[in-house]
Amino acid sequence: MSTLFRAWDPRELRHVFGHHPTGVCAITAVDDQQPVGMAVGSFTSVSLNPPLVAFQPDKSSTSFPCIRRAGSFAVNVLSSDQENICRTFATKGGDKFAELAWTPSKITGSPILEDIVAWVDCRIESVIEAGDHYIVLGRVLGLAVVRDTSPMVFFQGGYGSYADLPSQ
Ligand SMILES: Cc1cc2nc3c(=O)[nH]c(=O)nc-3n(C[C@H](O)[C@H](O)[C@H](O)COP(=O)(O)O)c2cc1C
Repeated sequence: MSTLFRAWDPRELRHVFGHHPTGVCAITAVDDQQPVGMAVGSFTSVSLNPPLVAFQPDKSSTSFPCIRRAGSFAVNVLSSDQENICRTFATKGGDKFAELAWTPSKITGSPILEDIVAWVDCRIESVIEAGDHYIVLGRVLGLAVVRDTSPMVFFQGGYGSYADLPSQ
């Protein structure tokens, strides 16, 4: 039993987990009339019926409590040419929207960023404790593809793009 549950070095966990490529999304919301957001690699689709998605914010995130208070959020799927936006949303503090073009979604008012690949507008369905993170389940209220272009890919700590876009 005790040998199964040993103490892990977080660097080792990060190193191995980093060999799994992820897309990158900006999770956005409006809290107290202020736009808020954070970059995540943990967005995933969960269920088609009912339509559910999820992302996993770190408990130390200062943006997530604002998103949670808002009760709804938009998932902005970033394109490979939006690295600057990713870096802005991955940085704590400041006005992350100061130099960004965005429009409020028609359903929840959550910010939809310009030139993203796709967006999903959600209401928070539940927030589950999971170690030092939360699992946030969102009920899909609306969604659309904006730009048929290469998404941003995060792999081994670096940014890239998806080279082989499927032909339509
Ligand atoms: C590619 C990438 C993926 C990330 N994925 C996550 C994630 O899934 N969950 C998370 O809590 N933070 C993730 N982060 C870190 C957050 O973007 C960052 O800590 C943050 O939210 C900014 O701090 P704040 O929430 O206090 O504003 C990621 C950062 C990058 C660059």
